[in-house]
Amino acid sequence: MSVLITNIGELVTNEPGEQPGAAAYTAAAGAALVIDEDRVAWTGPAARAPAADQMVDAGGRAVLPGFVDSHAHLVFAGERGAEFAARMAGQPYQAGGIRSTVAATRDATDDQLRANLRRLAAEMLAQGITTFECKSGYGLTVPDEARSVAIAAEFTPEVTYLGAHVVPPEFAADPAGYVDLVCGAMLDACAPHAKWVDVFCERGAFGRDEAAAVLAAGTAAGLQPRVHANQLGPGPGVQLATAAGAASADHCTHLDDADVEALASSGTVATLLPGVEFSTRQPYPDARRLLDAGATVALATDCNPGSCFSSSMALCIALAVREMHMTTQEAVWAATAGGARALRRTDVGHLGVGARADLVMLEAPSHSYLAYRPGVPLVAGFWLNGDGVVEGIRTGSTAR
Ligand code: NIG
Ligand code: FE
Repeated sequence: MSVLITNIGELVTNEPGEQPGAAAYTAAAGAALVIDEDRVAWTGPAARAPAADQMVDAGGRAVLPGFVDSHAHLVFAGERGAEFAARMAGQPYQAGGIRSTVAATRDATDDQLRANLRRLAAEMLAQGITTFECKSGYGLTVPDEARSVAIAAEFTPEVTYLGAHVVPPEFAADPAGYVDLVCGAMLDACAPHAKWVDVFCERGAFGRDEAAAVLAAGTAAGLQPRVHANQLGPGPGVQLATAAGAASADHCTHLDDADVEALASSGTVATLLPGVEFSTRQPYPDARRLLDAGATVALATDCNPGSCFSSSMALCIALAVREMHMTTQEAVWAATAGGARALRRTDVGHLGVGARADLVMLEAPSHSYLAYRPGVPLVAGFWLNGDGVVEGIRTGSTAR
């Protein structure tokens, strides 16, 4: 089955090979795109579009690649609204809050964890996120981490083993013993379900040597590294990530010049999570500094019950533009193609011919509305793997 989407006001394709930020636009009214089964088959001016089995009139709306959220923690139980309220009343964010979610997660049944993840994945999709990464990290025992990655794998191929999130209370007197477990029996139980290994390299979590050991063990087990780096203060996380050949260093809130240089001169994507700065009232990282240095920047939600309980990529884009000095084009590229690079995916994050047919249609004529109209739900419809949900938009068969 083929679908022609015509009369697109602005088609953002992010053709592969374009520089980060230089999103490829067909800005003239009347662009078109053809989906064949689950793939993009054609893009170009509507006047030259081939016939298809079905036609959708975009009515001048913008069409973008589906958002690629390369950082989320969605396997958990409970919530921490009171912790958020206390932060807004002046308490600092501390990594230790993670432990209260760990207790609730251990107490939950598999079905409760699955139902929560299903709800959050649906919430993301309704907001245009068509690919998401999902971490473990709230179980922190061998069976709880193993079921976390197994449940995550029911929903996404982008599963991350984050046994090294924090040291759980029962190992408070023996953090080295916990690192051994993370690198040993826990890794063995989780690796079959995961693509990635991650570590929270931060004061209060894991130091440089511990984090390096976790990444080395994960890599030896066939996982690819990514790192929570430089979130709460300066530290070794970014250097560790680039030295390990990590796909992504995430947060990057506190960077020195050597960190920026390391990101710019490596293949490691700098993944910025502005919803965290918003929700923890921290200073925003300067994306302009990274972009001007030549680093590849991604935007992600970090949706989790503690530091940012938002599944809105549109919020991230608006914050990146308003607070982190990204152009609207750079922010949209970072939320689509940038996220794909952070996940080492070439089939998503762009709408070149052959890409997966993951598309978002905005109730707006341009991508810039994602920042220009902050807080407004702008997703008019989406296609996931070629299957469309575009209620209220005119469809029909092509006459040619
Ligand atoms: O990415 N930084 C570590 N982990 C999460 C926070 C998790 C939590 O607070 O529950 C983050 O911000
Ligand atoms: Fe995180």
